[in-house]
Amino acid sequence: MKRCLVDRWMIVALGSLALMACASEDEAPPAPPNGEEPLQLLTYPYHRDEPKASATASIPAESPFFRDGERHVGVAVSADRLEEPGYAQTVAAQFNQVIAENEMKWEAIEPEPGVFDFTRADAIVSFARDNGMQVRGHTLVWHSQLPAWVEALTGADAVREAMTRHIQTVVAHYRDTFPGIVVAWDVVNEALNVMQGQMGGMVVYRDSVFYRELGEGFIAEAFQIARATDPDALLFYNDFGVEGTLGAKSTGTYDMLSALVAAGVPVDGMGFQMHTGPLDQGPNADDFAANVARYEALGLQVEVTEMDVTLCAVGGNVLGFELQRYRFNRILGACFASPACRSISLWGLADPNSWLNDTGCVQGMLVLDTEPAPLAFDAAYQRKPAWWGVYDALNGCTYQ
Ligand code: XIL
Repeated sequence: MKRCLVDRWMIVALGSLALMACASEDEAPPAPPNGEEPLQLLTYPYHRDEPKASATASIPAESPFFRDGERHVGVAVSADRLEEPGYAQTVAAQFNQVIAENEMKWEAIEPEPGVFDFTRADAIVSFARDNGMQVRGHTLVWHSQLPAWVEALTGADAVREAMTRHIQTVVAHYRDTFPGIVVAWDVVNEALNVMQGQMGGMVVYRDSVFYRELGEGFIAEAFQIARATDPDALLFYNDFGVEGTLGAKSTGTYDMLSALVAAGVPVDGMGFQMHTGPLDQGPNADDFAANVARYEALGLQVEVTEMDVTLCAVGGNVLGFELQRYRFNRILGACFASPACRSISLWGLADPNSWLNDTGCVQGMLVLDTEPAPLAFDAAYQRKPAWWGVYDALNGCTYQ
């Protein structure tokens, strides 16, 4: 069992710097990835000895730690960006799982009733297959990014028919065209919501065409259809704001999953999106670990499915990057510490790719002069300190 030593966790006010390193108590530090520097105390600018690669230059040798086959570290990608060599090479070299950031969503894959367009999603799955990677399918039933024709459906029969055809067609396509590559599906995404009232937060089923017409039973139905279509795929419920044990949505989600499991609904896992910030809160890592444990006790797998760590609150400076590294490490370390957690994913490759750039950093009416910079690679596809936080977590080294 490796123990992780944080040599120094120094935060000096204003412009402070945190230096951390991981070491093994009873064995040598992990072998460096081919041709790269061994793990060492980071100095700044980070990885200064690695020449900055241009977007199309060759990428550092692949990291065996990200390809050990047993655990999976995934990244949300876009079909368009995969056409850019620097992006594609980094994804293939550093990760062993991908997720289509948008290309498998209903509006993209079935824009008209019964008219399926798999072109862009297939480009991603082909890329994964050709590079020895697996895919998480995201997502089958979600209130968002639905085509207008689905939103306009009325009556239980029409919605059930559309939902059944959609799940069956999409899952069967990947089962048959890319056998064994799409290993998991986010079958239902974000079905619960929190209403703020005078008594505090109250969890409710989120308004959607599925809930309106089919009631809460749409969730169990969706899982049953998916299981009947591909018995080999792992089936996940996925949501945000439910990563810790505290709060109405967390409690409601845990209760819902408990009830689904007790009723024999074929749900295999709980996906925690984990769009979070650099401080140890919302949830803190210990509370996340406690949450993982209670889902594990239900017999479910758990995954961190969409992690990003926005730096809006602290800024993209040295301290921010170290806090980000720490946060990725503590959260992912808590996940990997559980035998129920075999896979984690980051919501985008490099900072300029992040969906969070669409809103930027805002505080009330103010647009802040800083950027979310929430991911593990920078604009030149160079590893940020955050990458080492992920790397250390994957290697059983969790910062104290
Ligand atoms: C986001 C994508 O990243 C954006 O490009 C898109 O405009 C909106 O959706 N939870 C999810 C993801 O489950 O599908 C969302 O992805 C982010 C929040």
